[in-house]
Amino acid sequence: MARVVAVSNRVADPRKAAAGGLAVALGETLNATGGLWMGWSGKIVEGAEGGRPGEGELKVQQAGNVTLATLDLSREDHDTYYLGYANRVLWPVFHYRLDLADFNTAYLAGYRRVNQLFARQLLPLLKPDDLVWVHDYHLIPLAAELRKLGCNNRIGFFLHIPLPPPLILAALPGHEWLVGALFAYDVVGFQSEADAQHFSRYVQSEAHAEVVGPDLYRAFGRTVLARSFPIGIDVDEFAALTHGKEARETYETMREQYSKRQLLVGIDRLDYSKGLPHRIRAFQELLASYPESRRSATLIQIASPTREDVDAYMDIRRELEHLCGQINGDYGELDWMPVRYIHRTLARKRLPGLCRAARVALVTPLRDGMNLVAKEYIAAQDPGDPGVLVLSRFAGAAEQLREALLVNPYDTQGTARAIHQALNMPLEERQARHQALLHRIRTHDVHWWRRSFLEALEHVDAAARQRA
Ligand code: G6P
Repeated sequence: MARVVAVSNRVADPRKAAAGGLAVALGETLNATGGLWMGWSGKIVEGAEGGRPGEGELKVQQAGNVTLATLDLSREDHDTYYLGYANRVLWPVFHYRLDLADFNTAYLAGYRRVNQLFARQLLPLLKPDDLVWVHDYHLIPLAAELRKLGCNNRIGFFLHIPLPPPLILAALPGHEWLVGALFAYDVVGFQSEADAQHFSRYVQSEAHAEVVGPDLYRAFGRTVLARSFPIGIDVDEFAALTHGKEARETYETMREQYSKRQLLVGIDRLDYSKGLPHRIRAFQELLASYPESRRSATLIQIASPTREDVDAYMDIRRELEHLCGQINGDYGELDWMPVRYIHRTLARKRLPGLCRAARVALVTPLRDGMNLVAKEYIAAQDPGDPGVLVLSRFAGAAEQLREALLVNPYDTQGTARAIHQALNMPLEERQARHQALLHRIRTHDVHWWRRSFLEALEHVDAAARQRA
């Protein structure tokens, strides 16, 4: 197969721990195949008199199998492109939160500038046969910018976050331009069927796209294959991590501390899309409605810091910390606290141990592209005595993981009932559900995801590309 050149805003050394679904999945994918991975270095360089120090400073280094090519960003580019358009406009709108969007035109200008910069920097690194695979909402117009510079490679795009329905998408100023930019790709991948349908409805109604074959849309003078490719995890690798030193230590400590109690776990970035306050309220409802869970049920909530310069993230942190304080104050005892809230990133090697020790995992986002924690929790379980996954029906993962206990996180009492059911589920039912879930995450793992996307990109109709 041709060389894969992946491009994403966030890159991570695949040999090291990373937080966030994209970096983990791409790291695993590229480590398996080799290839080039280009993105932001994570560094901000203060510009001298408004200069853009990002220009021309591509740093190339080898990380195991993967060549990493990274760019610094100037303060202005970082603030308008990353904090601005990506995380104050696209992230909230694509997660159905129009109320949190800030449509500032300076953000869009920064977004276009950084996409042009990425295109200029990437082009000289490309060989004619490379498959270029662009990831996520930060870089939607990258293919269009590359095409303007004469790039004729096959270029695919994968959106890791949800695509909202046409009416919500159309609330974005410049939505026609943004969706039009997707037609510069050859293949566009979404996490779920629902997202793919939103795309299909949008392009047919707003862009008068013609459906010219299965999942093939023609508009703006180009043809694009657009369908869902739900992302997965490396099940065997994660299960193997369960037996590593750090995971075993974590598992044993947790088992010891909670031998007479019931442990629940939540592992998320502290993002408003994850529904953390709703989750705490549901847990509070559990304690209120089922008194037997008091002094017993304990929720460990890991909430990793993320995008802390964006107001909405400061607000959600305040709200969550207030709620955790309240529930612990109201229900805590000298020897038991209902919620243990940790505002740090847990070392990746410890995660499987924590997952395996927890009787229940709460994965209850208000919206989520996929949510890989749900899949990691399943992979970490002991099949003989597995825990139960309580999963939001609004996570992309819910399309696949039908045997989880599916909940509506806005329904506090319903979620509390599901948590109660999970805590009291008989062994046989737990085993049966877990077996079915494990089968699902195995058949659609990260290798399947990579293979099916790249095969689609490699085999996309050459004739259609010529006509484009
Ligand atoms: C989500 C997005 C990724 C992003 C990650 C972490 O998973 O889909 O694109 O990298 O969150 O967020 P951050 O802003 O730190 O990159």
